[in-house]
Amino acid sequence: MATRHFLTLLDLSPDELRYLIQRAISIKNGLKTHGPTYTPFANRTLAMIFEKSSTRTRVSFETAMAQFGGHALFLSPRDTQLGRGEPIADTARVLAEMVDAVMIRTFSHEGLEAYAAASKVPVINALTDDYHPCQLLADVMTWTELRGSVKGRTAVWIGDGNNMCHSWINAARQFDFQLRICCPEGYEPRQDILAAAGDRVSILRDPLQAVAEADLVTTDVWASMGQEEEQARREANFAGFQVSETMLDRAKDDVLFLHCLPAHRGEEISTTLLDDPRAVVWQEAGNRLHAQKALIEFLLLGRVEG
Ligand code: CP
Ligand code: NVA
Repeated sequence: MATRHFLTLLDLSPDELRYLIQRAISIKNGLKTHGPTYTPFANRTLAMIFEKSSTRTRVSFETAMAQFGGHALFLSPRDTQLGRGEPIADTARVLAEMVDAVMIRTFSHEGLEAYAAASKVPVINALTDDYHPCQLLADVMTWTELRGSVKGRTAVWIGDGNNMCHSWINAARQFDFQLRICCPEGYEPRQDILAAAGDRVSILRDPLQAVAEADLVTTDVWASMGQEEEQARREANFAGFQVSETMLDRAKDDVLFLHCLPAHRGEEISTTLLDDPRAVVWQEAGNRLHAQKALIEFLLLGRVEG
């Protein structure tokens, strides 16, 4: 089987992505019923390169490999030769001689692509400045678990046109739902990513208008990792874009609220929003484990029945 990478949601076909979501739900049910008894990857290893901080991504990938019977290696540039200038492609060739797959969280998406181009084993994007596709697997899984097929539904992104927003745009393309993006002027998503989604995605400026009759509302921090020095300016520019309970009241009665987390209460969300029953962010975070298990399994074994 040719090596498959997962750098964006566009690396898998819509059919493969739908399979992955159903497989993730099935893996989750199996874990609940039987405990971690499904161990298809005994003694197999996943290298995890983290150039940015993480809680959920590290814990979910590491737990996934442990429950699968394998092992994950946490690699920080602070204590590997990557941090001392060893070329990315050399690292990719070396790791591929030893591990079964590699997961990378880094800044430059082009750097990730360069790594993948030199890797004989599957490479998974665990967040770049431009995309966060693993999070979208968990998000669409959560939405599907709670509301059934997402096809033809309407999601609303409130806030920065960032890496998460770009992955929501790709999700709208691949899973065939409508996405309204509501951001302040100057914080739009990348034009090429937006244009490729055609009329599935629209840009709005008024949050209350954007959430009207929505099936799902989601947001993210106003300053992402690497933008810490812009925090104060962004807080000013995003005033009025805080998602609150009263904003959700404008959406459908059964609206869901998602947030990839970590959240900044009092900034992009009201201080109490995560306590509202419409917010399903803990289930969403937990689904990182199951969705990434389905992803690892797919990249290493292809489709698995059952
Ligand atoms: N949502 C997410 O990727 O969380 P971490 O940064 O904690 O991994
Ligand atoms: N947009 C955020 C997502 C964190 C999971 C960031 O890149 O920091």
